[in-house]
Amino acid sequence: MKISLTVNGTGYEREVEPRTLLVEFIREDLGLTGTNVGCDTSQCGSCTVHVDGAAVKSCTVLAVQADGSSVTTIEGLARNGELHPMQQAFSDKHGLQCGFCTPGMIMTAVKLAESIPDIEPPAIRHGLEGNLCRCTGYENIVLAVEEGARQTAAHSPFELEPAEHKITLREAERRAAERSHA
Ligand code: FES
Ligand code: FES
Repeated sequence: MKISLTVNGTGYEREVEPRTLLVEFIREDLGLTGTNVGCDTSQCGSCTVHVDGAAVKSCTVLAVQADGSSVTTIEGLARNGELHPMQQAFSDKHGLQCGFCTPGMIMTAVKLAESIPDIEPPAIRHGLEGNLCRCTGYENIVLAVEEGARQTAAHSPFELEPAEHKITLREAERRAAERSHA
């Protein structure tokens, strides 16, 4: 089947098998290997990307379901050689160990920060429930997200989504749930 979508600001038209997962399309067809696969049960969150403004586990979505969508992966977060504030905060606060979960953590955290700029640790832990860290570096991850949210609020140029794509956390969760049950 032919699909056309935008990934990190670049338009693509590709033929895909109907069974191709979005994460496979991103990694294998586009070569964007920052999006990881850490499980086969839709639990780890390593594959999280943004689809039309929502954080989505890309192993739960078929590539054909993303037809016509705007997708952002971890490779699309930096702007003009400058890390997104959430990426910088993970570096500054040592929010990673092996780094395998980190792209997915950051993609989820960016959406948390956009929804709740003054987010606090309990809400961060709740918001990251769908992202697992095998190194169990959660303390520093939470510190990083708290700092990243503060810095994101202070750096409006890093708003990633056009205004019509800005959505609440609840709406993002609803859309993600819809996609995972599609
Ligand atoms: S690869 Fe684990 S949730 Fe997608
Ligand atoms: S830093 Fe190793 S899995 Fe999270």
